[in-house]
Amino acid sequence: MILIVGGAGYIGSHVNKLLNENGFDTIVFDNLSTGHIESVQWGKFINGDLANIDDIRSVFKLFKVTAIFHFAAYAYVGESVINPEKYYKNNVSNTLNLLQVMREFNIRDFIFSSSCATYGSPIKIPMNENHPENPINPYGRTKLIIDNILHDYSNAYNFKYVSLRYFNAAGNDPKIIIGESHEPETHLIPLVIQAALDSSKKVKIFGDDYDTSDGTCIRDYIHVNDLADAHLKAYNYLQRSNSISQVINLGTGEGNSVKEIITTVEKNTGLAVNIEISKRRAGDPSTLIADKNKAQEILGWAPTLVLSDIINHAVEWYRNPKY
Ligand code: UFG
Repeated sequence: MILIVGGAGYIGSHVNKLLNENGFDTIVFDNLSTGHIESVQWGKFINGDLANIDDIRSVFKLFKVTAIFHFAAYAYVGESVINPEKYYKNNVSNTLNLLQVMREFNIRDFIFSSSCATYGSPIKIPMNENHPENPINPYGRTKLIIDNILHDYSNAYNFKYVSLRYFNAAGNDPKIIIGESHEPETHLIPLVIQAALDSSKKVKIFGDDYDTSDGTCIRDYIHVNDLADAHLKAYNYLQRSNSISQVINLGTGEGNSVKEIITTVEKNTGLAVNIEISKRRAGDPSTLIADKNKAQEILGWAPTLVLSDIINHAVEWYRNPKY
């Protein structure tokens, strides 16, 4: 069985759905601190906390776990600057607990939810996996620390991992059974859609004086179902006898500006979005775009969905969010 730690969260729940659709048995382990029980519609569910090592052990005693997918982490960049302890304890220390139990039970395959935040400010666009790693906030450092720990542990303790460095995850299940729900919501696409659907809301554009074509920041938005598919392919890759541990970027290789996102949502909904030009947000690089070649070469993965799909599916979700 595949253990999905943090499987009640946004990306973990989409991976859980895909794994079950492909015939895998899963167990979701989640403390529901930010996840939603309504999103756990497949597999078994254990309410447990990575901070409590006996909670983790009890899962491995109950079930025959053969691989671990690890999504559980706090992921607000701004909060990580204000309260780094929360991030180092949860994202780093609690992951060490998971890796300890993984060793105790001899699990050989680990898939980790990493981030392009491990690279920091881009030196070269598109960014490949050899890009220098200089994270500019505690959140990015927690992800890089775990990537480094995985490197050392896997060499010493005989397991293999794939660390997937996401660019901007967005969109939701096209059947709208599960979706994105953060409290508070800070991500651009949900905020723009919510503003389109509710004219009393407005979107702040964090800076329109960047060195981009329209002055607003460019990001590589990747559909969460394409991300989920990459996890399945990473798992299949690890099953090959000749596979080795890997760090792999996941993005589309295309960038869209904040203003392009707003225009696409307006076109999709036929509704105007109220905007306000605001000052730059600290720590925002002007452009982040993935080089997706390694994902293609190693995993045989390529994104299948484009920005209009992301927006279509997300608009459907936010018209009637289930949680
Ligand atoms: N933005 C706005 N207004 C908003 C929200 C966002 O203009 O109200 C802009 C941001 O400045 C940025 C872009 O929209 O240029 C995307 O912002 P998001 O907050 O949606 O996403 P980020 O690129 O900041 O963050 C994502 C992930 C993080 C990860 C980070 C790595 O959500 O978990 O990429 O750089 F750490």
